[in-house]
Amino acid sequence: MCGIVGYIGEQEAAPIILDGLGRLEYRGYDSAGIAVIHDGSIQIRRDVGKLINLRKRVTEYPLAGSVGIGHTRWATHGAPAEHNAHPHISMDGEFVVVHNGIVENYRELRDELTAEGVHFNSDTDTEVIVQLIARFAQNGAGGDVTEATRHAVQHLRGAHAIVVMNRKQPDRIVAVRIGNAGGVAIGLGDNENFVASDIPAIIELTRRMIFLESGQMATVQPRKVSVQNLQGQPVSPAVHQIPWDAVSAAKGEYQHFMLKEIFDQPRSITDTIRGRVDFEHERVLLPELHMPSEAAKALHRLVIVACGTSYYSGLVGKFFIEQLARLIVEVDYGSEFRYRDPLLDSNTAVLAITQSGETVDTLAAMEEARGKKALLWSIVNAIGSQAMREADGYIMMNAGPEIGVASTKAFTASIVDQYLLALYLAQERGTLSQVEISAHLHNLARLPDLVGQALESYPQVQALAAHFHNYRDFLFLGRGINYPVALEGALKLKEISYIHAEGYPAGEMKHGPIALIDENMPVVAIATKDAVYDKMISQIEQAKARGGIVIAVATEGDNAIAEKADHVIFVPPSPEIISPVINVIPLQLLAYAIAIRRGADVDQPRNLAKSVTVE
Ligand code: AGP
Repeated sequence: MCGIVGYIGEQEAAPIILDGLGRLEYRGYDSAGIAVIHDGSIQIRRDVGKLINLRKRVTEYPLAGSVGIGHTRWATHGAPAEHNAHPHISMDGEFVVVHNGIVENYRELRDELTAEGVHFNSDTDTEVIVQLIARFAQNGAGGDVTEATRHAVQHLRGAHAIVVMNRKQPDRIVAVRIGNAGGVAIGLGDNENFVASDIPAIIELTRRMIFLESGQMATVQPRKVSVQNLQGQPVSPAVHQIPWDAVSAAKGEYQHFMLKEIFDQPRSITDTIRGRVDFEHERVLLPELHMPSEAAKALHRLVIVACGTSYYSGLVGKFFIEQLARLIVEVDYGSEFRYRDPLLDSNTAVLAITQSGETVDTLAAMEEARGKKALLWSIVNAIGSQAMREADGYIMMNAGPEIGVASTKAFTASIVDQYLLALYLAQERGTLSQVEISAHLHNLARLPDLVGQALESYPQVQALAAHFHNYRDFLFLGRGINYPVALEGALKLKEISYIHAEGYPAGEMKHGPIALIDENMPVVAIATKDAVYDKMISQIEQAKARGGIVIAVATEGDNAIAEKADHVIFVPPSPEIISPVINVIPLQLLAYAIAIRRGADVDQPRNLAKSVTVE
């Protein structure tokens, strides 16, 4: 996922841009670059590898100037190499561009431009953009960067976030958003303004931000920001006041963002509940959902669409919404949904769950839902993101910035948000008595403390990691509402420690996977006290009978299980319906502790990006 930062104002641009790119490092990248305009000339510095290499180059060859753009590149077209790093400059030396996304028709554009005599310096799709802008500037746009860019981008296919500068117009930066290739935030300062692909890059500089919609572009000057659509008509975007502060986006006393975010969960769960439960009248309030009672009653079905960890959260949400609101729920992968021609209608609601609000597959599923007239909701963490703004109604996770690539607090927050949604729908549809609703609200009130108690297992988990960090395969087993937790535990381990791990419904063991069990494949079994506890004990016995090593997640006070499993991580007792939020905690900690033992790059695992905005 590429990162973009731009600056225009009275300060030196280079330090601001480099610091901003540093705050986007979590997004994953393989090269970086910066361009600054000074005394009518465009100066570019680029390098492969981590930002430290670019910083060294800028120290060696300083950049002066108060307008500039920078980029961290996650290679799609063209290998990670200095000549492929952004920014890219037009052949005539007039324009320079950074870009996030994929030019799907870049081959035909490149051939067309080459036939007109354009020489390309890179193997990237991005370079066709800057050459196209230069062409329009020479033919008819009168050299104006906004007009030339507006015409040029109409010829691009695919999703893009593009930022452009023109050597002859050093008083402006142009930013364009088309489709869902990551956001474009315009930060509003005093006699200075900022452009960024994500909030953390500029949160320390301003909290007032505009977010471009798809099909909009902004001309950013030190004292003025003009937004228009691609037809050139002016647009008046909302200005968001971002509550996140720089501290919460920093690691604090933690070695990694991921560990900070794991331990942040009692607070993030509190914040996702805050303001949504009227404990005095014992009611759930979800005003941002814009869901009138009659519409809630008319609903026949809910389809949850999401990817990765958010998909596993949706699998838990299915239990809540079917059991409490008596509504049929399907859960589908965002990347599969639009290819199965889903049956949707105005009595179906589609709920997109996405921490970043920018996952291209989930956004595409939302577009599919919109096209088929379904009601569209989202559960989102990133303020101002596409999935927040596209939906008819939304529930903000309010989890604060989740920087670690491995999602943790967004998982638990989105589960709690679905519990709130289920209770809200139950209220509106009359499927729960007031006594029942009150009991569930009591469960919610206990959650932050129960999660805090579960976090106390960390020292014990660290000891287990010392023992298990060299195994090559793991199996995670869960049943009922904790089956999705087994899937999530396996994903956490595999994505940050690179150990192969599978999550499985425990009842499926006898249909194949049990053939895998031996002393080389530890089995993590979620066996807390619930309706399927006895079945889980039986699974543990079956695994042990085949020489398996079992790590059980069990309920404090359950001494019997210690005779069955090799290792036990205890969590506090809790009602089954909220147990996924508590049982996932030791699994998050186990993945983290094992990854640390293996010296993995926990916050920026190889090949992964925090927000997947390419298909
Ligand atoms: C989870 O740890 C992964 N980083 C990944 O599976 C993630 O959950 C997925 O890409 C969806 O992201 P989203 O919630 O921002 O849409």
